[in-house]
Amino acid sequence: MSTPQSPLHGPSRHESAHGHVSGAARYVDDLPRPGGLLIGLPVGSPVARGRLKAVNCAAALAVPGVHAVLLARDVPGHNRLGPIVHDEPLLAEDELYAVGQLVALIVGESVAACRAAAQKLEIVVDEAPAILSVADAIAAGSYLGTPHVMRRGDVEAALARAALQIEGELASGGQDHFYLETQAALAIPGEDGSLEIHSSTQHPTEIQVATAEILGCDRNRIVVLVPRMGGGFGGKESQATHFAALAALAAVRLQRPVKVWLSRELDMQMTGKRHPFWSRYRAGFDAHGRILGLEVFIYADGGWSIDLTPAILDRALFHLANAYYVPALRFEGRAVRTNTASNTAFRGFGGPQGMLVIEDAMSRAAERLGIDPAELRRRNYYGPEALQVSDSGPLAVDAPLPEGELDERVVASLHGRKLTPYYQTVEDCRLPRIHRELLQQADYAARRAEIDAFNARSPLVKRGLGFMPVKFGISFTNSVLNQAGALVLIYTDGSVQLNHGGTEMGQGLHSKMLAVCAHELGVPERCVRVMTTATDKVPNTSATAASSGSDLNGAAVQRACAELRERLRPLAAELLGAAPELVGFSDGQVSVVGGRSISFAELTRAAWARRISLSAAGYYATPGIVYDREAGRGKPFHYFAYGAALTEVEVSGLTGEHRVLRVDILHDVGRSLLPNIDRGQIEGAYIQGLGWLTCEELVWDPRGRLLTHGPSTYKIPAVGDAPEDFRVSLLRDAPQADVIHGSKAVGEPPFMLAISVIPALRHAIAGFGEAGLEPRLTLPCTPEAILRAIEDIRARARAAQVSAAE
Ligand code: MTE
Ligand code: HPA
Ligand code: MOS
Repeated sequence: MSTPQSPLHGPSRHESAHGHVSGAARYVDDLPRPGGLLIGLPVGSPVARGRLKAVNCAAALAVPGVHAVLLARDVPGHNRLGPIVHDEPLLAEDELYAVGQLVALIVGESVAACRAAAQKLEIVVDEAPAILSVADAIAAGSYLGTPHVMRRGDVEAALARAALQIEGELASGGQDHFYLETQAALAIPGEDGSLEIHSSTQHPTEIQVATAEILGCDRNRIVVLVPRMGGGFGGKESQATHFAALAALAAVRLQRPVKVWLSRELDMQMTGKRHPFWSRYRAGFDAHGRILGLEVFIYADGGWSIDLTPAILDRALFHLANAYYVPALRFEGRAVRTNTASNTAFRGFGGPQGMLVIEDAMSRAAERLGIDPAELRRRNYYGPEALQVSDSGPLAVDAPLPEGELDERVVASLHGRKLTPYYQTVEDCRLPRIHRELLQQADYAARRAEIDAFNARSPLVKRGLGFMPVKFGISFTNSVLNQAGALVLIYTDGSVQLNHGGTEMGQGLHSKMLAVCAHELGVPERCVRVMTTATDKVPNTSATAASSGSDLNGAAVQRACAELRERLRPLAAELLGAAPELVGFSDGQVSVVGGRSISFAELTRAAWARRISLSAAGYYATPGIVYDREAGRGKPFHYFAYGAALTEVEVSGLTGEHRVLRVDILHDVGRSLLPNIDRGQIEGAYIQGLGWLTCEELVWDPRGRLLTHGPSTYKIPAVGDAPEDFRVSLLRDAPQADVIHGSKAVGEPPFMLAISVIPALRHAIAGFGEAGLEPRLTLPCTPEAILRAIEDIRARARAAQVSAAE
């Protein structure tokens, strides 16, 4: 438990806050320039698909200041990369699969020299027709990996029996990560063939492993260090590797330090994005709005290589049902290969794309059945509470639809409503409580009524209020990745160096780890220094991803610190003349309740004199998680994070523009480690989700060249797009069992709260039509898309009036 002095659970600020605002915080490009530094500039394929016939380097090499042009043939080891399957050449061999696919690295004394050389590099290709969309890929049979299927019960029978059947198709677009710091790496050769790589990466171990393979050396030759990232958002989980490996390759070839740092334009052209998805579904609801059956085919656009696509597709399937108990279902997911940059992890990791499907069905069912959309969603939550209907009492439980014969667990689950499509039970669904509290504190019912009244008297401007619940699974779905380590060093002045396997990308992981360490050792936070993440301090780490950075590393830090504290306890007891169990560690003092005390520093000096070790490693692996992908069953998640949002918008019927007037969020972070940090994560994730859904749009030309490669053409949300009134609260008194200090992961789940903007926009757009007409809104909801939906619903309303008059 925390003491009054504990740095946990209370007010705090980001450990680098001052550094961020003053400019003192160092990123890769801010590190002191090593002597002899050269610059590496990657050059990508000019075509989306074709054969690479030749790369003529003579003219480029003749540019003054240029030292080398490296190609595939210069790779001494294995010219292959890929986080799951090694299907990507680091530098292209014969085939080209995407514009911007790495072909060469120009190495020179300045960026200007490298750019001049890039202009002169002659890449000779035979261009072939490219596959640029999910539809084209399906037509061409161009797939990546194997399908993933989840099934339960007889979905056809459930659909046939449903009072309401809905069929739909849904496309969601990609999203550029637009981290403020683009991909960056600095490689410095050392003695004995060793190499130090400073990288802006979420996954230092992946860079160590890949570079060792590229160079054909042992992993122990390479140390990867991560000062911090200026944002990663998933874009540096697997794709920082390429640029670090290129810097490493050049550093080893030329025996000089080499830095690769991408311009925004190159970064946007070369790196993968959030996966665009396309899906079609059939859903059946009973007359009360309860879902009976759902069939979904979902396709992810993986781009040209596998990267993390299979895991992202899996997470999309795990989140197709979002917060809702679906009795009978069949979900099939496939990934397609297209000739675009290889798509990759992005906050939510397929979860957002999956949830959009059932949310579309929920919105449309509410419109068709005339049930309030928040209430209809509530009736579908996991857990028996959802069976209560507020005004008319409990609803009948629908008869089970087991697969002809018996699936006892399914039959048994019907009344408890706890079984997910992948057969994990949802033990503690917090959504009924969140729902109640949020709707009450945000004054939902009154505001909906007010908005309907406003819309009735306002012909050109309409408002809408949208609700979205989120249930997000926490753990890497590849179970082995759920492990972490820490290394804690105490010096004899009582100061502490904290090493852990996670990376800092702005999310506040280091702040949380520092607080956990200070709490556990009972020292003030100023006595603890969080060290640069380094593969020679904690080996064989997983990426900082899946929102699990503080769960995994926090537990490892806690264990390392607890071990040190317990090692020191007998000595403290001896020095204080008390029983060991009476000794307390807090605020830099080691004391006996109501008795003597010594400083933590004194204790460490005494320990050194007694030859007691003052360093310890900690290790943690999440217990009890397994998943069998073939069977589509298991317990992939340690627990679920929950939250809900209400978004109110105002839409112009003249231009299709909208404003977000007010957002209310109630989010479950368990017992927050650092509430200010978590609040920042929730706000940031929501805005990033809003960007994906409303203003960010990637456009390629017919030859697969990205046209939106800078902030002038790719619109990310700015301060003016933030909700005018933004109310975020954390669910109170909600500790989570078996997670560090009762906290819950927060990085990704609130991203999906932004999906509430879609039902809000639908509500507003419906106001331009007539009762009973469904808005037809496509993503992203740019002004053009919204205006099209308004004009479409107005036209259908007019047609209905004409036919009624006839
Ligand atoms: N917050 C900031 N400021 N910058 C980031 O790059 N990445 C997000 C989230 N929040 C990100 C962020 C993503 S995609 C993940 S998975 C988590 O942070 C990773 O960190 P955590 O596991 O420590 O929460
Ligand atoms: N989430 C995020 N990143 C990942 C995952 C996951 O489940 N698996 C592998 N990388
Ligand atoms: Mo986050 S997409 O898991 O890096």
